[in-house]
Amino acid sequence: MTKKIFRTKSINEFISETKMDGGMNKFLGTFGLTMLGIGAIVGTGIFVLTGVAAANYSGPALVISFIIAALACGCAALCYAEFAAMVPVAGSAYTYGYVALGEFWAWVIGWDLILEYAFAVSTVAIGWSGYFNNILMNLGITLPAALTMAPHDGGIVNLPAVLILAVVAFVNIRGVKQSSFVNNVIVAIKLAVVALFLALGFSHVDASNWVPFMPFGWSGVFAGASIIFFAYIGFDAVSTAAEEVKDPQKSLPRGIILSLIICTILYIAVSAVLTGMVPFMQFQTTAAPVAFALQAVGYHWGAAAVSVGAICGLTSVLLVMSFGQSRVLFVMSRDGLLPKFFGHVHSKYKTPARSSALVGVITAITAGFLPINAVAEMTNIGTLCAFIIVSAAVIILRKKNPNQQRAFKCPLVPLVPALAIVFCGILIYMLPLVTQIRFIVWLLVGLAIYFGYGYSHSIISKTRRSTVPAGSAAANMNPAAQPTKGH
Ligand code: ALA
Repeated sequence: MTKKIFRTKSINEFISETKMDGGMNKFLGTFGLTMLGIGAIVGTGIFVLTGVAAANYSGPALVISFIIAALACGCAALCYAEFAAMVPVAGSAYTYGYVALGEFWAWVIGWDLILEYAFAVSTVAIGWSGYFNNILMNLGITLPAALTMAPHDGGIVNLPAVLILAVVAFVNIRGVKQSSFVNNVIVAIKLAVVALFLALGFSHVDASNWVPFMPFGWSGVFAGASIIFFAYIGFDAVSTAAEEVKDPQKSLPRGIILSLIICTILYIAVSAVLTGMVPFMQFQTTAAPVAFALQAVGYHWGAAAVSVGAICGLTSVLLVMSFGQSRVLFVMSRDGLLPKFFGHVHSKYKTPARSSALVGVITAITAGFLPINAVAEMTNIGTLCAFIIVSAAVIILRKKNPNQQRAFKCPLVPLVPALAIVFCGILIYMLPLVTQIRFIVWLLVGLAIYFGYGYSHSIISKTRRSTVPAGSAAANMNPAAQPTKGH
């Protein structure tokens, strides 16, 4: 049994699968990938959660929280980059887990990725709703609180969040894939509104707003980092585009690392200016802190422009993340770990329509009825756990397959992956206990599904019939020794 649950798939096996239908169109280069990364990264984290984290946890030391979260992501990103260059396959972390650690851990990562993508989509939809309401308010329209807030926050349902998710699900089902050009335009708008905010806000920074700098102490700063970590999620989504990249060995690591560096610089600048413009406690009252700060210093037109730009940016994050979600479910179903329902492709639209619809319903319920903190925290804990497993996988695969060609090597292994594990572990530790308990329940449900379904339905178990010792170097390196995986 142990042998079975740690059965691996080889790198060559994965790569040859991607070529089975002639492969996808390879058009993305480093620039397109970096833009894709920024498109997925800059969203609710910076536009909404900055306010939540500053008011409740970090205070003006929000900038330190951003640096702490960046350290965790930076180390994890280097690990992702090594894998992405070595296994340029759409399944991302789930695939890396399969290659390095075997099926069981691949399942755990896949199960975590469901949490990452689905809950991120819900979180971003709640953020979208905040900016949407802000725009309506500027136009003199105020929707009743009962229809714009979750029950926990005093409303009945967050209707704008539910409606935008219905639109996103519709787009996903119809398969209107965002073109690289559209993504570049949206990213340009997003970066322009961030630049506008910095340009307008800079001269209104009042250093007295930075005192006291750490009102909730270091524990507040770390707790803030565990929330604000959400802002960086998305650089890993770059690796899901692996099969559409011209020169993946070079471009993927560059795209992942460059998008993270650019976003980190922007985040540090925005958090410093934001907390300098308004006393941090005031962010308690707003769901659109960046626009709120501009309004507070008198830039009503600037606030309106930022809100419109934020809405565009948040919509692109919604599309990328929900697309990533259906892709992960699709790959897991193709491997037999999830029922065929999730891999079913619509005959007309050629999209995984059923799983997109199901994802739409679940994310809409979550976004409509839960508060943003709870949903963001679940996203973070799932993502952090996936980052830890990927980082461990780098160390393990270096030992198991030292001769595997690595077009990009994570520097200072095992130090950097170990640091990623420690930083991500600290952030998990700093999340509220209730989130940790919910996550354990989530994992237990996942294990029940794996042992009740995936373990016996796995495609590998049907095709391999234990001809190759699972996890052996031969299993990983020699495609000739592998039976072809059936579909
Ligand atoms: N990092 C993305 C955001 O902040 C998920 O919206």
